[in-house]
Amino acid sequence: MPVMEDIAWNVVEKSDVAKNTTNPIRNVVDRLKIPPNPEKTVISLGLGDPTAFGNLQVPVQAVKAVQKTLLAHQSNGYPPAVGYEKTRAAIARRYTRPEAPLEANDVIVTSGCSGALEMAFSALAHAGQTILLPQPGFSLYKTLCDNKGIKVKYYRLIPERNWEVDLAHVEELLDDSVAGWLINNPSNPCGSVYSRQHLIKCKELAAKHRLMIVADEIYEDMVFSPNEFHPMALLEPRIPLLACGGLAKRFLVPGWRVGWILIHDQSHALNQIRGALVDLAGIILGANSIMQAAIPDIFEHVPESFHQEVNQYIGHNADIAYDCLADTPGLSLLRPQGALYMMVGWQVDRFGFEDDVQICERLISEESVLCLPGTIFGMKNYIRIVYCAPPEMIEEATGRIKAFCARHYRQ
Ligand SMILES: Cc1ncc(COP(=O)(O)O)c(C=O)c1O
Repeated sequence: MPVMEDIAWNVVEKSDVAKNTTNPIRNVVDRLKIPPNPEKTVISLGLGDPTAFGNLQVPVQAVKAVQKTLLAHQSNGYPPAVGYEKTRAAIARRYTRPEAPLEANDVIVTSGCSGALEMAFSALAHAGQTILLPQPGFSLYKTLCDNKGIKVKYYRLIPERNWEVDLAHVEELLDDSVAGWLINNPSNPCGSVYSRQHLIKCKELAAKHRLMIVADEIYEDMVFSPNEFHPMALLEPRIPLLACGGLAKRFLVPGWRVGWILIHDQSHALNQIRGALVDLAGIILGANSIMQAAIPDIFEHVPESFHQEVNQYIGHNADIAYDCLADTPGLSLLRPQGALYMMVGWQVDRFGFEDDVQICERLISEESVLCLPGTIFGMKNYIRIVYCAPPEMIEEATGRIKAFCARHYRQ
């Protein structure tokens, strides 16, 4: 028997797929491993995980629904690849509207919204084709495309106009290779919520160019009064659309890994795409069986008041963060309207910093506050603030950021 070390193994380097699968968050966060200031406790405003601080609790009705499902011993086998029929039906019931009707057949249950996005991109584009992505935007979009050899082009969001889509820029980017257009509303990382009029303009542009929209609505209805969320499917409902969503944010359970694709296709333009999604679902066999089986019960029993309270709590935190930083010389920011995020622009030359990555390094080393640099989301010289920590921590952290600004700002 040869010694193992002597064997020339075939597998000597990463596969091309692995090489093409990079997570930009990791690359940048690894650069931020700076020892924090020992005099101050670290406050992380970095990750969009609403469970991180224990202050936002999963609805008790959802926990009971999962318990009941487990004890029933009926959901331990492989679910159908596209999800249990009763789960698909419950999701369809929740989202169906007279102007945009949905049936169980129009729903694919996926492993998180990430799984939904992956399947939507794979169904729409093959290697070498292009998906249009927002800039700034959630970095996973590019990772999913790179992994499949799908090209990406970024369209601008306009900070001065509530981070709306620069529609003229979208038109400039169009060519024969473009197979899909990702629109994220409410937005990670901007915290913006689009008006009805703006969303209609987006859909009209899609119709003009026969461009398939993938709507990432994982933050659906996570909006702060008086803002309103408009599901894209309900506006110009005859224009086909794949809407991606999930339980993660609204029900405060990102670890449960349940998401879905809603296929809105009144004109039957998506028959091939529908088939593709069914085929692609066969790779992973959807979401965890227990969690997806609990969905009908979760939807039936978690009261609307739960979501309203969460929105109020998070919206209040957003106001604390915004009000603290709004008038700070050298910063530019908009009051968040929804989701969990706020982007803060920095006049870096006024502060004597190189860029947003350096700002984040200095914030952690001087103030023990962790934020992610906008570079991760494609927006240099911005930082992203997550405001789901308890209000007193948000107050403390943004107060430290303000003091940091006062110390470094030069007239
Ligand atoms: C904009 C956006 N889309 C999709 C996802 C992924 O959601 P899930 O955790 O359900 O995979 C996230 C998660 O943070 C997100 O911010």
